Amino acid sequence: MLFASGIVACSPENAPDRDPALARDHYSFANVEHFVTDHLHLVLRVDFEREVLRGTAILRMRQLDPDAREIVLDTRDLTIESVVVATDPSGPLDTEFELGETDAYLGTPLAIRLPDAAADADAVTVTIYYETSPDSTALGWLPPELTAGGEHPFLFSQSQAIHARSWIPLQDTPAIRINYSARVHTPPELLAVMSADNVPDVERTGVYEFEMPQPIPSYLMAIAAGNLHFAAIGDDTGVYAEPELLEASASEFADTQAMFETAEAMFGPYQWGRYDLLILPPSFPYGGMENPRLSFLTPSLLAGDRSLVSVVAHELAHSWSGNLVTNKTWRDGWLNEGWTSYLEYRLMQVIYDEDRAAEENLLNYEELLLNFERIDPKYQALAPRITELDPESGQGTIAYHKGNLFLQYLEHAYGREIFDQFITDYFSDFAFQVITTEDFVDYLDQRLLSVHHGILTREQVERWMYEPGLPDDAVIPTSRNLDDAAELAAMWSRGEVDAAELPVADWSAQTTIHFINALDPDLSTEKLVEIDRTLGLSDTKNAEIGRTWFIQVAKRRHEPAYEQMAEHLRKFGRVRLIRPIYVALAENGHDMQLARELFDAARGAYHPIANAYIGPVFEDDDAVE
Ligand code: BES
Ligand code: ZN
Repeated sequence: MLFASGIVACSPENAPDRDPALARDHYSFANVEHFVTDHLHLVLRVDFEREVLRGTAILRMRQLDPDAREIVLDTRDLTIESVVVATDPSGPLDTEFELGETDAYLGTPLAIRLPDAAADADAVTVTIYYETSPDSTALGWLPPELTAGGEHPFLFSQSQAIHARSWIPLQDTPAIRINYSARVHTPPELLAVMSADNVPDVERTGVYEFEMPQPIPSYLMAIAAGNLHFAAIGDDTGVYAEPELLEASASEFADTQAMFETAEAMFGPYQWGRYDLLILPPSFPYGGMENPRLSFLTPSLLAGDRSLVSVVAHELAHSWSGNLVTNKTWRDGWLNEGWTSYLEYRLMQVIYDEDRAAEENLLNYEELLLNFERIDPKYQALAPRITELDPESGQGTIAYHKGNLFLQYLEHAYGREIFDQFITDYFSDFAFQVITTEDFVDYLDQRLLSVHHGILTREQVERWMYEPGLPDDAVIPTSRNLDDAAELAAMWSRGEVDAAELPVADWSAQTTIHFINALDPDLSTEKLVEIDRTLGLSDTKNAEIGRTWFIQVAKRRHEPAYEQMAEHLRKFGRVRLIRPIYVALAENGHDMQLARELFDAARGAYHPIANAYIGPVFEDDDAVE
């Protein structure tokens, strides 16, 4: 889903890194140069029968341009019942509003005309009575049979990148930050939680009040409701899950408190109060989402051996990179995801050990190389000089892994002591602000490049920002364990070592993944059956091992494992775990039809975001990336 147009012309007098078009948000209709929201209050009723949220959004807005007479908000598939504008002191005024033309990707602008009586007000309060659609792209509505307990329905949101507008009419851009409060009505036996001040032992009444006192960008608005219960992990940390998953979750994520304390020691104070985890049903489309105070997580992390908890380290790290210092536009997404991947790597080194962190680092680097093969070079820059790029998929995981390697490059050049000081200064200097790539490069120049002369030049840094691929002087990850596993994969493929002799008992999940990826491309069916049996691949409890294996199964048309592959595709809704398998089937030259049938059978249980990512795999050849 890449946009072809939107390349910004460069000319010497119009240096592209200072082009104001690059600092604008091209994914929002909101006129934030005229009005900005300071506070949002929501009153919402969760209607599981009709699969809608119904209620009121009250936006308190400041007027920046005294001549502006119109407020434009973002919406998608919302039914707007009425809009009332009020000012101090005039009170509620008759207000006209109009929904504009719908853009398939951006949604529908809601234009609100300010009555003349509001002309001199500095601040206005806009009250919108509305209802979401059952097709809201943010909301997953699950019938009881798609939950762990099977008895109660479940609702969850996913607002990043531009889906908040499909459940709240608002200025849906990371360029501004808002405080919010909310009252949520649910069936009385259920609990609602939000990206706000959840109270672990709150009484179940069906009416829940929330407050988010720290200002956040709109993509961090989040809600979930279901048969949720709470278990404490440490003083500051805990987990919400359905009771059936609560014990397993508390044990899988038992290291969260230690991660929290390590993160504070390394990155500066945690600014958000509590840090809790929410375990969602399998249709949650991501591994994790950094909703402030309450990271949302896929249950596919429950491997039983804490092998996939780097996702928790990642979402926790977003409490600094992303939630505290936020990308101003989606083009600057690497400031969120690249920084967070680097902080995740640093946390994993401390909480676990260097070997495990090195293994994950090398796997990520290999994924980056695959991305470079498939993604158009003009999208391979960390901050491409373009104005239109699908903020959710255009860059694959380049912002994550290339961003991470860039920060490792800085760490390597300046040494840990200097770079660690830079990290804490950065988070404290930009706390609760939004910045662009160019703001970051200026700051880096001032605080590091110009202070410690002769180490790195601005040109070297800008190569990472604006050029495809990796610079020649990048520091390439290595891992002894993974090298050994690759060597064994080659030897076993050639018949030089027996499967029974492989030292699998010593292997981490990451080692197994690397071993699978290093198998000879031309193995016989018998050899594949043998390795599947020896390593228990098709029956693995580890969803990442399953993903890696079933990609190979689909690529190699290893039909003996197709039934288990189909089960994997039914069981998980996390895009990362399933989409590459559909792509491999669609590309293996034989199984397009099968892929389509499997998707049609499973898609009812997936989230709309997952369907939007996977659907194009079957539409035309160009969409297969
Ligand atoms: N913020 C992202 C998820 C996201 C990114 C949603 C872009 C929508 C648009 C989250 O922090 C994330 O990166 N999740 C990863 C975790 C992994 C890299 C450890 C995921 O879901 O795979
Ligand atoms: Zn992330």
